[in-house]
Amino acid sequence: MNNMVSVAILGHGVVGSGVAEILLTHKQKLFASLGEEIYIKKVLDLREFPDSPIAERFTKDFEEIINDLEIRVVVEVMGGLHPSYEFVKRCLKAGKSVVTSNKELVAAYGAELLEIARQENVNFLFEASVGGGIPIIRPMNQCLVANIVNEVAGILNGTTNFILTKMIEDGMQFEDALRLAQDLGFAERNPAADIEGHDACRKICILASLAFGKHVYPEMVHTEGITRITLEDVKYAEKFGCVIKLIGRVKKLPSGKIDIVTAPMLVPFKSQLANIDNEFNGIMVRGDCTGDVVFYGKGAGKLPTASAVVADIVDCCMHLKQRRFLYWADGKGDNIISVSESEFAMYVRAKGKNVAAKAEALFGSIQSISTPGSHRTAFTTEKMPYGQFIEKINKLAADDVEILSTIRIGDL
Ligand code: HSE
Repeated sequence: MNNMVSVAILGHGVVGSGVAEILLTHKQKLFASLGEEIYIKKVLDLREFPDSPIAERFTKDFEEIINDLEIRVVVEVMGGLHPSYEFVKRCLKAGKSVVTSNKELVAAYGAELLEIARQENVNFLFEASVGGGIPIIRPMNQCLVANIVNEVAGILNGTTNFILTKMIEDGMQFEDALRLAQDLGFAERNPAADIEGHDACRKICILASLAFGKHVYPEMVHTEGITRITLEDVKYAEKFGCVIKLIGRVKKLPSGKIDIVTAPMLVPFKSQLANIDNEFNGIMVRGDCTGDVVFYGKGAGKLPTASAVVADIVDCCMHLKQRRFLYWADGKGDNIISVSESEFAMYVRAKGKNVAAKAEALFGSIQSISTPGSHRTAFTTEKMPYGQFIEKINKLAADDVEILSTIRIGDL
């Protein structure tokens, strides 16, 4: 049919229903941009949605979609790796462009799927996989293309940022804040992926692959979550002029290798990332020409994420016979330094007698704050390789000091 592009949506969960909603409610607006109607021909889901305005277009059978030659763009918003991977691969091989919000899929199979898309001359786009509604993939790939990117660092997980904000601002307990994030629909189906840092890790892997041209797999990245962060750490961090944020960070070193980590970090109040709260995400890209560019917005939730998916659908519809240049090669991790070589200044909270004096003897110059009468001290060290820090902290522990927590300090 003329003036119409048929698409299919795989999954009608939080994001999928948002995509259908935007395509239906913003039909005129999208037609004005594209010059063609985007027609939802099929929606794949195992559940029934009798109240949907497009209820008769639902199917439980993927074969109906793959075999439909009119469907030119397939939107994968099911989440998880399987069968998403198999479905996306088959769609690309069948000559259909694919749009996904699935960061797990892109982090695990991005290089392979981009290569298939290249061979088939179709598009594989995933703007929504990082930063929800924030444009970041396209700006990095196109608008910042003149730059050599030296570093990308960001608050990439809305759930953990929401939890940390509630702990910092309202003194809320971790579990209560997590429950609230789940009720608001930010958290993953299994929230361990959020709070253990895996979701943020997948996203920094995608940005690192894009920035430095070789796939970085999540297994190659040292990852820590926020489960061990306490209200006491939050209060000490404030005294050191910082807030605690879960940060994904990748940095290019003079050697040409990259240093990549996902971990909670003390972020100085003056950093652009310090005031990014609740479910908002913030991503800082350091380019050699631009200096710091910061992207900010809602990193999770139905309509923000669906907005990025729909923008990719429009892009695919505009370029049905032409590939958008988005590509990185496979990677073996040989361009990544080990976690022990990675350099950070560190925050330590400890309990024992004369902690500050003992720490100074081991670490040299430190800044410390002691809580009178409690034998509790927090101190910060100068920057050093993480492996060296661990050696020294083990010596401190052997000297009758209980180490309560250690957190990296972000140079952000
Ligand atoms: N669980 C994710 C988050 C959803 O909280 O950021 C968006 O990727």
